[in-house]
Amino acid sequence: MSPSSVFSVSVRVSVLLLALLLSGSVCAELKVLVRLDDGQISAETLESDSERDIISVELRHTDGTLTTFLADFKRHVKILRVLVLGEPERGQTQYQGLCFISRLEHGEIIPSEAMVRLRQKNPHVVRTAEEKRGLERMSMNMAVNLTLSWHLSAHIRSMCRDAQDFIYTREQDVKYWLEKGVEGSIFKAFPQNGKNAALPRCSATADPWQPCSCSYTVRLEWYPCMLKYCRGHGPSPYKCGIKSCSKAYRFDFHTPRKQQCMWDEES
Ligand SMILES: *[C@@H]1O[C@H](CO)[C@@H](O)[C@H](O)[C@H]1NC(C)=O
Repeated sequence: MSPSSVFSVSVRVSVLLLALLLSGSVCAELKVLVRLDDGQISAETLESDSERDIISVELRHTDGTLTTFLADFKRHVKILRVLVLGEPERGQTQYQGLCFISRLEHGEIIPSEAMVRLRQKNPHVVRTAEEKRGLERMSMNMAVNLTLSWHLSAHIRSMCRDAQDFIYTREQDVKYWLEKGVEGSIFKAFPQNGKNAALPRCSATADPWQPCSCSYTVRLEWYPCMLKYCRGHGPSPYKCGIKSCSKAYRFDFHTPRKQQCMWDEES
């Protein structure tokens, strides 16, 4: 290894450091440049608030789609919202909002109090995640009532406002939340007529007014998924950085009309 490549490796390792600030900072914003799957570069915004115990990650994709992820640690809830740009000349709305709510597992993302301390030395570095996590398929078979959603998480109301009738969750997560004492009336099974007959896939449906089973895949390109520990002069290891991950989710869900699932036609 040449001295210059050793240098660049050590620079890469140290560009993100957890400054162990003892000052009482509770909110922070971090903007990082990330390389998307298609090779393009986009700016990602990571916001954290250790008092409200939340982290959000927002990224705009090349096609204009805006993806926002929010982790609500207090309520064990994660919200993934996508705003897909529509094609008004094809009778679609300006954009369509989709909101996917599921259980936040322990260790999926670093704690908010570590996130507020995260600083980057070089904001011009284009980042790619160290670990590419596999695609997780989620069958979103229940609907969430926006008006009552505060029973589950106070953040759903503002995050999912533009998704209205497209706020989905999973039966298995609902069971978990019900056991935790969350009000049951906010969830409704899909489809609402009670028949659980399998709907045709939207990609195989020609009629734009037919109900069908839609899917949407979204990738979180870069997020701090684990803390790294280093050994110093002291007796115990200390937090000295983060490991970054990317992760893709594929959501399957019912739509009342194929027209609301236009991206699913070529797959
Ligand atoms: C959501 O809940 C409110 C209050 O109970 C109710 O008025 C409204 O009809 C519900 N919305 C849907 C779509 O079921």
